Amino acid sequence: MKGVILAGGLGTRLYPLTHVTNKHLLPVYDKPMIYYPIQTLVKAGINEVIIVTGGPFAGHFLNVLKNGGELGLKHLEYAYQQGEGGIAAALALTEDFADGDSIAVILGDNTTDADISGAVKNFKDGVLVFLKKVPDPQRFGVAVFDQNDKKRLIKIEEKPKKPKSNFAVTGLYLYDNSVFDIIKTCRPSVRGELEITDVNNCYLKEGKLNWSELKGFWSDAGTFESLFRSNAYWASKK
Ligand code: G1P
Repeated sequence: MKGVILAGGLGTRLYPLTHVTNKHLLPVYDKPMIYYPIQTLVKAGINEVIIVTGGPFAGHFLNVLKNGGELGLKHLEYAYQQGEGGIAAALALTEDFADGDSIAVILGDNTTDADISGAVKNFKDGVLVFLKKVPDPQRFGVAVFDQNDKKRLIKIEEKPKKPKSNFAVTGLYLYDNSVFDIIKTCRPSVRGELEITDVNNCYLKEGKLNWSELKGFWSDAGTFESLFRSNAYWASKK
């Protein structure tokens, strides 16, 4: 399996910090944020990675990561996303890199100490989404479960005003290669983006979505509150 880290966007919720550099290079305690998703992939045995980025500071990634060797990567590639097309549009840019293989996708502002190596090893097809119980599910994609079978995921709702569970869909996903065909069938949402939640709901309709609860710490870092929470956690872990 190959790895994809999505690190685009302008990070407007973190202005003025993101006038300095790309969000995913801001510090999370003692490392640039993107080190954490890279380490999650490397720990899971994935050492061929592509980073999709964009915006005015895309070049900074080369300065920081170079060829990725210092972080344990065998192959590091970059793709540039023009404009703000959404997560699924960024993912579409990695089709040639994937070259028929399955991919582990992580959003570049997601940090976790969970070990996903078992899931990677056992992955066969479809999509595996990682869920995490959170106190503020309305900020995320949220899992909706069957009333009678509480383990059966029937739908994912993107940032619902009234979340039907406390389980957020984290920004970690394992996809088989059909993800690229599925993205081609997606249409932009009301916010004008190709939503990863629509892609996941397509898999769900085909009965090809599985989920697993992420063990350990997980947080995004796209707001001052979540960036601070991530910093505090990784500082306390040292
Ligand atoms: C994105 C996804 C959302 C997911 C979240 C995880 O939201 O759209 O489904 O729960 O990442 O970090 P964003 O933070 O880009 O708005």
